Amino acid sequence: MSDSATGDGFPSAGEGTRAVRAGLPDPVKYEPHLPGPVFAAHFHLPGEPTGPYTYGRDENPTWTHLEHAIGELEAPGQDGVETLVFASGMAAISSVLFSQLRAGDAVVLPSDGYQALPLVRTQLEAYGIEVRTAPTGDDAQLDVLDGAKLLWIESPSNPELDVCDIRRLVESAHARGALVAVDNTLATPLGQRPLGLGADFSVASGTKQLTGHGDVLLGYVTGRSGEAMTAVRRWRKIVGAIPGPMEAWLAHRSIATLQLRVDRQNASALAVAEALRGRPEVTGLRYPGLPDDPSHKVASRQMRRYGCVVSFTLPTRARAERFLEALRLVDDATSFGGVRSTAERRGRWGGDAVPEGFIRLSVGAEDPEDLVADVLRALEESAR
Ligand SMILES: Cc1ncc(COP(=O)(O)O)c(C=O)c1O
Repeated sequence: MSDSATGDGFPSAGEGTRAVRAGLPDPVKYEPHLPGPVFAAHFHLPGEPTGPYTYGRDENPTWTHLEHAIGELEAPGQDGVETLVFASGMAAISSVLFSQLRAGDAVVLPSDGYQALPLVRTQLEAYGIEVRTAPTGDDAQLDVLDGAKLLWIESPSNPELDVCDIRRLVESAHARGALVAVDNTLATPLGQRPLGLGADFSVASGTKQLTGHGDVLLGYVTGRSGEAMTAVRRWRKIVGAIPGPMEAWLAHRSIATLQLRVDRQNASALAVAEALRGRPEVTGLRYPGLPDDPSHKVASRQMRRYGCVVSFTLPTRARAERFLEALRLVDDATSFGGVRSTAERRGRWGGDAVPEGFIRLSVGAEDPEDLVADVLRALEESAR
């Protein structure tokens, strides 16, 4: 049997098989398949203080298993790739930005990315880093890339679901000497593999579809081993934004069902998007898996699955609020990717440049026909 703990994994097996076995150590008689969470602030350490396990802020065996699991899905069969887990997606994002950039450097961020990025921008600027922005679609990043140290991509973008040609942008960025990081939260490693498209880092919030039950905050960075990842590891150590062992274990347990959840949720998202397409009150419908979506052509070249999020706009804020209230199977809540469907009027946060009636709907693992019926009924009811 292959020992996935040594990084071999099952690179040629199907994705469901790899998800089920990802990161599991070799079998040991009477031991569990997935070892339980190791709760330890420090480890027995007589003599010289060398690894692998010395102090709980630096390393933990439960993280190690999870890091192997994520690495096997993000970069199957690729040597020299390392994964580091973090306390949240934002901890992972910050670790890359703040470990790679210095005063005087320039970075390109998406202007339409996750709504905490403007806060990050302010902090980067306070440290003397020049921040340039460009929208996700239409290769606008190319106009602001000259002299940049790092290009940050979020594709598909949250919440407007635009997609950019990652390989093309990576080639242009590398030709200019810039590193590229891709926020892979929405796609998950089963939807898209940024390292395979040439990126230097795949960064994600594991809080979303990766773990999928809405009960864990987690983040990770997968990157090619070397100076850049050493700096990310050092950043984790000095900032201490580490996941608890229980969260790491729950995340690993959840990855076993990743392919099942992603296939179900993404197929249902397409069904919901198709049902919304025919509705006169719906405008700006976006789902990269819809053949006539503006992102579909690029998405189908680089994505294997299109995500579980659908976004659209209802005519007014009041109509959107009535719609959310009328839904019975879809909870009004933020975040996305969970097995229970959620939706929200994104404008309520004030951070995204979206219309007042803009809805971000995250499709869960309910029966698709029940969900479609609930959404259509809520649309009817909200008209009254
Ligand atoms: C695309 C994207 N990246 C990063 C994050 C931040 O992740 P976390 O909430 O786990 O810190 C989010 C959260 O919604 C997100 O949507």
